[in-house]
Amino acid sequence: MKRARFHVVVTAGPTREWLDPVRYLSNASSGRMGFAIAAEAARRGMAVTLIAGPVGLATPAGVTRVDVESAREMLAALRAAFGRADALFMAAAVADWRPARRRAGKWRAKDGGSARASIELVRNPDLVATVARSKGARKVVAFALETGSGLRRARAKLRAKNADFVVLNDATVLNSERATVTILSVDGSVRRLERRAKRAVAHSLVDLVDPRRVPRA
Ligand code: CTP
Repeated sequence: MKRARFHVVVTAGPTREWLDPVRYLSNASSGRMGFAIAAEAARRGMAVTLIAGPVGLATPAGVTRVDVESAREMLAALRAAFGRADALFMAAAVADWRPARRRAGKWRAKDGGSARASIELVRNPDLVATVARSKGARKVVAFALETGSGLRRARAKLRAKNADFVVLNDATVLNSERATVTILSVDGSVRRLERRAKRAVAHSLVDLVDPRRVPRA
């Protein structure tokens, strides 16, 4: 019998949390890192499901794309895809918070008549921690964006999210062509890639899970 293709799930881009029919909370993620990972995995002949938040990027050749907006939609798509996956790259910049309610009509400044307003937020689920709880033999690669030196916090995320690797980015990665990343492994090893093109970073990251490349201990 033919062996099933290695299946990679990649999440990419921001999520969008609507306040009313015309406004939302989001972030500056371009989605480029996740799309580069998806393209690299497909180039190697892997089956790729790319779960994308709202981004203006073309779907890489050979990739199955699922478009989502909110964190909860992304979780539903992730749950549906993770069961068949051998590896997950959680590159999406998921909103930690969403408005407690989405107004049916437009929120008008005149409604309150005051100079101040506040928005009540509720916590979104941690998507990668939720699915990685029962990951079995699947490899899970999470990402961390830290301002300042975030090694200690990134190491804590490795455990909290039950990930095999955490890819630590600094904030200069947002909307930039190049990235400096530090790859932390659950085995304690740390590797730094300095100012590489995102395509080159994607190559090193897919190597982390590629069954033809992993034997390096
Ligand atoms: N992530 C997730 N679900 C969330 C928030 C983040 O799955 N609700 C994932 C991201 O896709 C990324 C990793 O968790 O792979 C790290 O996200 P980050 O925002 O850096 O960390 P947080 O866990 O949100 O912690 P903090 O904001 O306190 O740094």
